Amino acid sequence: MNLFDVYPLNDITITKASGSYVWDADGQQYLDLYGGHAVISIGHTHPHYVQRLTAQLNKVGFYSNSVKIPLQVELAKKLGEVSGKPDFQLFLCNSGAEANENALKLASFYNGRKKIVAFRGAFHGRTSLAVAVTDNPKIVAPVNENSNVIFLPHNDEAALEATFAAQGNEIAAVIVEGIQGVGGIREASKNFLQKIRSLCDAHNAVYIADSVQCGYGRTGLFYSHDYAGVSADVYTMAKGMGNGFPVAGISISPKFKPWHGELGTTFGGNHLACAAALAVLEIIEQDQLMQNAQELGDYLIAELNKFEQVKEVRGRGLMIGIELPEELAHVKKDLLFKHHIFTGEAKPNVIRLLPALNLKKEQADEFLLAFSALMK
Ligand SMILES: Cc1ncc(COP(=O)(O)O)c(C=O)c1O
Repeated sequence: MNLFDVYPLNDITITKASGSYVWDADGQQYLDLYGGHAVISIGHTHPHYVQRLTAQLNKVGFYSNSVKIPLQVELAKKLGEVSGKPDFQLFLCNSGAEANENALKLASFYNGRKKIVAFRGAFHGRTSLAVAVTDNPKIVAPVNENSNVIFLPHNDEAALEATFAAQGNEIAAVIVEGIQGVGGIREASKNFLQKIRSLCDAHNAVYIADSVQCGYGRTGLFYSHDYAGVSADVYTMAKGMGNGFPVAGISISPKFKPWHGELGTTFGGNHLACAAALAVLEIIEQDQLMQNAQELGDYLIAELNKFEQVKEVRGRGLMIGIELPEELAHVKKDLLFKHHIFTGEAKPNVIRLLPALNLKKEQADEFLLAFSALMK
């Protein structure tokens, strides 16, 4: 049997990983500023994480949501504390798309409506409704096309106001990334997020903050959206949550009252997933990783802005986009194959930095040195 060939692969096999470094099968070391797509939040093979998962596996790895799982309660409590939303409720699932799918469904159950407002450049996942609110027709199969989705220009308050004025009583939810990831590290402005909040309030629509990539402390705040000073109704999260263990969740405002059977999943919130998520939160808290993300992010952004070849540096904390001119489109590959540094990308010429939140200053400098060599 062959693999279904949907991924363009780099010819690298990773056999070992520790902190912000990985090694390939030939023993070559790489600095990892990509974290397998913003997933590695507390560093690869963090000792506390390995210990907590191993200990849990030796007790019980999985049971379904037909029994009590005290680890879920512990996780909800910790997440409430670390995210600054102790009164919110947690539903656990397995991936970012699934988190968004559930958030949209919850919104529609809540107000009985069908229309969703999403934005140009958005990426929310590949399952049915998540892909329907994603602005990429190439990955939307005919069966996923959904006439209930309204796409508006990103950060366009006037367009949002006009849409609510015309169809406000039909809109179930507005879904927005705090910083668009796949869209090229483009931040939703404070005013825009405040406008979403006030229009959702005025029309009883649900504000869904897709925090799958920009959340979990990456920008220095637990949810990057919260820098606008207003709270969302539902936050979706995944990537950094399990440091590589597939676990996702939605944090739900107390105004939503659940009923049995409303949402559900077999694997979501299993013992191992909760152990992974708890280990991550414990490290984020104990090692003050949100603060580190903010400080190192500020440092990297300031240094990157000094390169005159760079068209624009965008983002916040350790979610950084470096927009390069067309003639420097090779830089990402050169970083990987000449300097052994993993970075992410966004089309057409944006390098994305999504490292672990405990990246060290020396490692940031290692990258800046390599980047500087390539700029020459
Ligand atoms: C903002 C955002 N939402 C949702 C998703 C989908 O997450 P997953 O791939 O875990 O389904 C992604 C993945 O890149 C994302 O960046």
